[in-house]
Amino acid sequence: MIREIGIGLAGFGTVGAGVFLNLEKNRALLRERIGRDLIVRKIAVKDPSKKRPVSLPPALLAANWRELLDDPAVQVVVELMGGIEEPRELILEAIRRGKIVVTGNKALLAEHGAEIFQLATEKRVPVFYEAAVAGGIPIIKAVREAFVANHFLRVRGIINGTSNYILTRMAESGLDFASALAEAQAAGYAEADPTLDVNGWDAGHKAIILASLAYGFWVPSKDVLVEGIESITPGDIRFAAQLGYTIKLLGFIDACLDGSVEVSVQPSLVPDENILASVRGVFNAIAVRGDVVGDALFYGRGAGQDPTASSVISDLADAAVALEAPRDSFGFIPHALYGKLRPADEVVSPFYLRLGVDDKPGVLARIAGVLGEAGIGISSVIQPETNEGELAALVLMIHDAPRGRVLSALQKIRALDCVHGDPALYRVEAAA
Ligand code: HSE
Repeated sequence: MIREIGIGLAGFGTVGAGVFLNLEKNRALLRERIGRDLIVRKIAVKDPSKKRPVSLPPALLAANWRELLDDPAVQVVVELMGGIEEPRELILEAIRRGKIVVTGNKALLAEHGAEIFQLATEKRVPVFYEAAVAGGIPIIKAVREAFVANHFLRVRGIINGTSNYILTRMAESGLDFASALAEAQAAGYAEADPTLDVNGWDAGHKAIILASLAYGFWVPSKDVLVEGIESITPGDIRFAAQLGYTIKLLGFIDACLDGSVEVSVQPSLVPDENILASVRGVFNAIAVRGDVVGDALFYGRGAGQDPTASSVISDLADAAVALEAPRDSFGFIPHALYGKLRPADEVVSPFYLRLGVDDKPGVLARIAGVLGEAGIGISSVIQPETNEGELAALVLMIHDAPRGRVLSALQKIRALDCVHGDPALYRVEAAA
């Protein structure tokens, strides 16, 4: 008799339904591969009487997630509810009761990962979270297992599909941000509330999880620099293209020479020869550089019912094995080789600066003067022609400089009477 593993699903939205349907679809294959049968025994939903696209036997439905915890036939709890407080309560209680947890909840892990994994380790109960970062791309497993031999020198990620779709549409069809966002929503790519997609925090949560796993300490989210794409204009996209760059929302994870770690999400000019520049539409991509493996690139769908279900089911297969194997790893292994986040203002990089200025003699010299006094070099300048008396866009490419120093110079530049409106300051990424 093949052994059965009892699963409780908390939440039956798009991903929950995808897990259920794909477990059915590939049941025979999964049986062969993992030697166990993954059986959904209970599904907790807010409203069991609601009509759903997938028909479920009423006996499977529970109105409260606590029923999953109380059911001795449920050995693995899959948290796909969304939100933070309730999932946190569910996961901590599941661990206390010795039930293995699978979750795709990036916001929860980014905010409460330290607490969850401390309890998981204490109770010796694993928590799996492949679906929390980059949907169907198996980056958690790669960082945790496949690259175990490596110090991570750096990771760069396009880890929000919605913002990548918006930036692609702006670049390829000249749309402005609002129209590209409306298109992403109409196509069903953006979340119902796209705030976290466009303000950078969905990518921020994923970068925090990846960095924490890569460097063995939970990165404090309050100290992470996260910027979104809302202020990017069609003009920025055109200027960048003219200079040989594509604008992307990038997650930056870097080991610095002093042993500190940089973690940030910033709109960035990516040189067209960098492979990340050609990642279009809703796709995600993550470039990893390890000291042993060198460069490795992951590309795929970062969202959607089936890709995300693929990751959840991969965790279920691991959970099935973990139920019977002696456990010595619980999803996150802390260590003390790193442990310090580098303040964003100390991070050195080149920048793109776009200003609105009066089109008058001497303006460029005054701005260059402020930068020069701060020891900040300019590598190129674009100022498209304007009609007499019109405000001109002035674009400066700035050589390597600490972000904090650039920000203080920018404060002085904004105070000049020839500078108007909100400037844009974006990081510039290296060619490879
Ligand atoms: N909304 C996210 C994205 C997927 O657009 O990539 C879930 O994190």
